[in-house]
Parts: sequence; C-alpha cells; structure tokens
Amino acid sequence: MFVSDSLSVNEKGHLTIGGVDTVYLAEKYGTPLYVMDEASIRGALRDYKKSIDENYENGGMVAFASKACAFKAIYEIVKEEGCGADVVSGGELYTAIQAGFPPERLYFHGNFKTEDELAMALDYGVGRIIVDNGEELEALSAMAKARNVTANIYLRITPGVDAHTHSFIMTGQNDSKFGFTLETGEALQAAKKAAAMPNIALKGMHCHIGSQIFDEAPFAHTAELMIGFLAQVRDETGLTLTELNMGGGFGSRYVESDVVLPYGEYMRRIAGAMKEVAAKLSFPLPYIVIEPGRSIVGNAGITLYTVGSVKHIPGIRTFVIVDGGMTDNPRYALYQSKYTAVVANKANLPADQVVTIAGRCCESGDLIQEHTKLQPCQRGDIVAVMTTGAYNYSMSSNYNRIPRPAIVMIKDGTDRVVVKAETYADVMRNDL
Ligand code: LLP
Repeated sequence: MFVSDSLSVNEKGHLTIGGVDTVYLAEKYGTPLYVMDEASIRGALRDYKKSIDENYENGGMVAFASKACAFKAIYEIVKEEGCGADVVSGGELYTAIQAGFPPERLYFHGNFKTEDELAMALDYGVGRIIVDNGEELEALSAMAKARNVTANIYLRITPGVDAHTHSFIMTGQNDSKFGFTLETGEALQAAKKAAAMPNIALKGMHCHIGSQIFDEAPFAHTAELMIGFLAQVRDETGLTLTELNMGGGFGSRYVESDVVLPYGEYMRRIAGAMKEVAAKLSFPLPYIVIEPGRSIVGNAGITLYTVGSVKHIPGIRTFVIVDGGMTDNPRYALYQSKYTAVVANKANLPADQVVTIAGRCCESGDLIQEHTKLQPCQRGDIVAVMTTGAYNYSMSSNYNRIPRPAIVMIKDGTDRVVVKAETYADVMRNDL
C-alpha cells in the first residue's frame, strides 16, 4: 500500500513518516503541509555514491539536480553528504551559495542563462558551467576574458535517444530546445570551437535524456554514444576530455505497479557500457557525473491535506476535495502523473473507495488524482499523498493567491520546519 520505505502505520492506525505520526504533524503545523524524511534523502545520496564506488573505478560525483526540490536545508544536506548539485537558474545558484554550498561542486545548467547569471557563476567560481548553445559560448568567453578568468565548461549534447518511449528512436529526440545535436555534426563543431576559445576550458561533455525513466537500456545506449563522441572529439581536435556528465532521469515509485530498479543497477549498466566502448576505442575512462533529482527526494516526501468535503455524483464519481491542489502539486494537471494517497488518520482501514482527489482552486482541472483508491473519508480527515518530494514544492505557485505550505523535515523521530508557510502578507509583499 505504501510506495515509500519511510512510511508505516502506528498503533493508532495513523500513517507515520520517519516514525512520526502524520496526524500529529497535521495538527501541530496545519495543512496543507509538505513533510520530508531526511534519512531517506541521505540514504538515496549514499546509495548513488556507493553505486559509483562499486561499479566505476575511475571515480565520479553525484550532483543532486536541485530543480527537483530547492531550499536551503536541502543544499545543506547534500553538502554534508559530500555530493555536488546541479543548479539551473540564478535563484537556485543563490540559494546554494547562501546555504554554504561549495561553489566548486556546483554544475550550472540552463538553456538560457542571462548575462547576470553567467556573471554570478563566474564570480562565485562555480565548478562547471554547462553551455547549451553557441551564443552562450561566445558570451561566456567574452565575459571570462573581461574578468581575466577561465570558465570551466561542459557542452550539453543532445544524443538523439528517445528515452520516454523506452525504445531507441535515434532521430526523435533531436527535436529538442536543449543542447548541441550530435547527429547533425553541430556538437562536434561546438567542441572544436570551444577547444580553441580564449578563457574557456572545455573539461567534458554533458547529456540528459529525460526524466522518470525506469529502463536502464537508454542510459547504457547514451553512455556508448557519448564515449564514442569523446573519442571523435579526441580524433578531430587532439583534445582528450576527462569528464562525462550523464545527467539524471532515474525513475521513482509513485504507484504500486511502478517497478524501480535499485540505483546500483543503473550505474552497473552505464559503467559497463562506458568501459566496453572506451576499451574498443582506446579512450581513457572519464570521471563520471550523474545528476539524479527525483530519485533523491521524490519518495522522501509526502503532502498532508485536510478534507473539506466529499461530493458523490451518483453514477459518475466521488470527489474528495482537499485544502491544497495544483498550487502545491501541479503535476497531475500538467502531466496526468500518477500518485498513491491514503487517509492518514484511517491508514489501517482498507482503501475500498474509488475517488477523485480534487484541489481548492477555481479550475476544474485542479485535480491531484482521478479514480484512485482511498479509505472512506469525510470533512476533517487528513489525506496524505505520497511521493511528493520532487517537483512539487519546486513547481508550486500562488495561483488564487494561495500561500505556499511549510516544509517540515523529519530526522531521528523529531520534526523541524525547514521552510516556513507563506502568509497572506508574503503573498502580497511585492504589490505596490
Ligand atoms: N539534469 C538535467 C540537465 C535535467 O534537466 C534534469 C531534469 C535532471 C538532471 C534531473 O532529472 P531527474 O533525476 O529528476 O529525473 N517537472 C518534471 C520533471 C522535469 C525534469 C527536468 N530536468 C516533473 O515534474 O516530472
């Protein structure tokens, strides 16, 4: 019934997270409320690190893709675990720096970095800037020259692998706004150009084939293509690049039918593919970087809501209407994402009702999940939606001027607020 190891049921029949009663949390902090289990976040980071240690003797870095969930305490946890972080905007970069994150372990992404953001990256001294297009390369070179510094970069490569269909369609994914296309030769041209540019140090290549991917085969295939590309760059420019960033995208469990591979399995396949092609092409194995986001924080988080009403429409459906919705979790509205929910104060009862969980926004599409199983419930009950640690808080909004919920972190059986709930004053703080 639970799709995350952090969750259980206590003797009162209440859902617990990290051993803490969620009904108690709802009473103490109010709802909606994001709750995250710190042990689960640290455990996932450690599992990924171990998977590199065990499968890839040439070393590597786990860089948490912070777009999945960005706030100060997360960067502190990731820093303490000795990992890196992928930041994709000035806002993420700023938060990481404010959290004391070592800039040399930051990977700065984005298909449109403004001049201000590039300046921030150079001035903070971020470890690697992942250049997405030719114009950015020119701008960065000029800015680095003006500062008399060297920008350490990767190029983002679009490898032409369609991972979303779990099959290899070699041309499909070329239709992407991101990166330099491998197949058209654009990527090689960019590599040649970057290798010769002043104040630019081309350190390696980057790719990212998608998100919520369960199959390890597209990753292995991409690894082969990327090592092949590194060998081609060596042959054509004489430059042997020593780093390869394979991006993120490893899937998380949202519903019972999701079959998630142990993280080590992805690395085993990726490392195996890299070693095989590298040996064939006599290319020295690069340092590897991976950027998991969802799979670090997704299953660590739940969202607690209070039920406001239950609307039965005979012969049609039953709506369970809760005090949050697309403002704290836009993923069903955007992607029809699957979720598992439970009535937290009746978690020991059978989930024998089929309901649609709807939010409170003035919008019919404001749904959390349709036709999902839930325990019988009524106004005042607490509904917990699982696997909301990734791309929920980070994608939240103030639509309808609804303040964002707080985030409570659970550690060693204790709870602490790591992000305060917004107030009405917060919501209108920029209004003049
Ligand atoms: N690296 C790069 C360059 C990325 O663009 C992404 C995600 C990641 C790493 C991390 O991917 P992950 O391990 O989290 O799958 N909002 C969508 C997901 C968008 C992912 C964007 N890029 C959602 O809610 O499903």
